[in-house]
Amino acid sequence: MKRYSISRAVRGAGFASALFTLFFAPFATHAADTRPTFTPPSAASLPDTEFGKIVRQGEQIFLHTPQMAGKFVGNNLNCVSCHLDAGRRPDSAPMWAAYVLYPAYRAKNEHVNTLAERLQGCFRFSMNGKAPAADDPVLTALQSYMFWLASKAPTGVALQGQGYRKLPAPAQKADYVRGSEVYAQYCAVCHGAQGQGQKNGKHWVFPALWGADSFNWGAGMHQIGNAAGFIKANMPLGQGGMLSDQEAWDVAYFMNAHERPQDPRYTESVAATRAKYHDSDDSLYGIEVNGHLLGSDAPPPGGTLIQAKAKPAG
Ligand code: HEC
Ligand code: HEC
Repeated sequence: MKRYSISRAVRGAGFASALFTLFFAPFATHAADTRPTFTPPSAASLPDTEFGKIVRQGEQIFLHTPQMAGKFVGNNLNCVSCHLDAGRRPDSAPMWAAYVLYPAYRAKNEHVNTLAERLQGCFRFSMNGKAPAADDPVLTALQSYMFWLASKAPTGVALQGQGYRKLPAPAQKADYVRGSEVYAQYCAVCHGAQGQGQKNGKHWVFPALWGADSFNWGAGMHQIGNAAGFIKANMPLGQGGMLSDQEAWDVAYFMNAHERPQDPRYTESVAATRAKYHDSDDSLYGIEVNGHLLGSDAPPPGGTLIQAKAKPAG
């Protein structure tokens, strides 16, 4: 029963996605968007050389992150879980658009970040894991993949489709109850009634949106604005643009009003950590929702990495 509904949902999504791309995507671009456009090279054009080999390796890490870079990953997400179409899709923070913007200043850590440092953050927060060293082969391969995707792109400028969309502020304040209704109607079929995702045997089919197996409280996706922009453009899978802005804000709020692994920068107390890293309306960390103080019952960061360590040796 469960299997049937998974495969049906996937096939339905694939079909809807193809339809969307054919008929609607060309009209979805904002008329006032003056940023340069760019199309990354096709997968078929990748040369069969030493360079091509490392690019392909980067792509495999991007698609199968726990399998290919397991010692740095503490959950069951892949880079592609949030950067769709192997990091190619506009409005899902595509890698070709990111590549040309680094090094860049980031308010998150208040200094100029190299691309390697940016990627280290993805492992620590989005993957609930551990940062590879800057010269680790995993980061070299990922950067090679990004370099190739950005072949011949103009550098130093924001390209059309870069990052996640910034939705206008919602007409009504984002709401948990309305969000739960959107979730039940449009999301639970794939991501599970408890946001836990779905596995087919050992293989993850749909990633977890909250709980111990998802991204941690330090990740960009826990910010309601990022999540609303991602969801509006990309979810339900294959039907991006279907939800109203209000529905996207409500369901983003609902998703991020649930407990997830602790912020690895946690210091002293939930209140102190909120004051230091989450002091904005964009974060529910340290806020009480339905009688629960978010962050107070968070599983430790590191997920499967620390579980593996806790296992007796031998
Ligand atoms: C849980 C979702 C999620 C996962 C998984 C994830 N990311 Fe991201 N990523 C984001 C969000 C959200 C942002 C935007 C963050 C911000 O600006 O605060 C982002 C931003 C980025 C950027 C910068 C984009 C730009 O235009 O500046 C890069 C590069 C990136 N991610 C790479 C990766 C890589 C590589 C992986 C896998 C190791 C990964 N991400 C995994 C959610 C995710
Ligand atoms: C047809 C199945 C399906 C439906 C329905 C669906 N999703 Fe997803 N969602 C996916 C898949 C698959 C991915 C990962 C994409 C990939 O790996 O290419 C994903 C990724 C995500 C992510 C980023 C990864 C993570 O685990 O945080 C978020 C957030 C998300 N979905 C939210 C939603 C919301 C909210 C809804 C309802 C409005 C929704 N999804 C509906 C299949 C679905």
